[in-house]
Amino acid sequence: MRQLLAGNWKMNGLHAALGEIRALNRAFGKGAPPADILICPPATLVALAAKESDDGPIAIGGQDCHEKSSGAFTGDVSAEMLRDCGATYVIVGHSERRQYHGETDAIIAAKAAAARRAALIPIICIGESESEREAGRAGQVVTAQLAAGIPQDAAPDGLVIAYEPIWAIGTGRTPSLAEIEAIHGTIRESLVGRFGERGNGVRILYGGSVKPDNAGPILKTRNVDGALIGGASLKAADMLSIAKAAPRS
Ligand code: PGA
Repeated sequence: MRQLLAGNWKMNGLHAALGEIRALNRAFGKGAPPADILICPPATLVALAAKESDDGPIAIGGQDCHEKSSGAFTGDVSAEMLRDCGATYVIVGHSERRQYHGETDAIIAAKAAAARRAALIPIICIGESESEREAGRAGQVVTAQLAAGIPQDAAPDGLVIAYEPIWAIGTGRTPSLAEIEAIHGTIRESLVGRFGERGNGVRILYGGSVKPDNAGPILKTRNVDGALIGGASLKAADMLSIAKAAPRS
């Protein structure tokens, strides 16, 4: 299946960072990109980034959304607002949201449902902590997160899962390829258990310290259908190198 390379800028990027999106559009505009390319800038830049990519191949997404479409929720942004700004995807349930904002699987399921309501593709993040992995519970943890974090009535089309072991995010450490293959296999099984054959069509991204120098082997691992990229997505040159390493379907 065609891979998705999703950049998560987190709380980084002022106006000048739009130059990176311009550079990506210019680079990928010359030929069909080898994968679907998505940048999720901070909310303040979503509209401008989408404008920048109007005719370009780069998709723009949000990093979070509220479950309601509007209302008295100071500081929050709804899925409809992101869509209105030109976003087509939204990340939900990133481990930093779970950790710093107390997001539970139930909240994440509601946000993913809100994304679908607003015609955005939700990227639902799951992943174990270091102690859970050491205790041999990684598979169990992600299976439970999938069961509770995917909305009850969700259809598998246009659903994206991002597996990000918490201990690999921003640390420069990654699981071995065998470990990535094993847990992506567990995630696939769980999706097929839930959706039948159509579960094979759900993209499962790997995230956590993906860089130009390790992207090739990770992206070629079985059941890895792309990557969620933090630090390395801030520079167009790094995203380009990662994209070059992606297998074409
Ligand atoms: P990283 O972040 O690539 O900087 O490890 C990944 C993420 O948190 O999405």
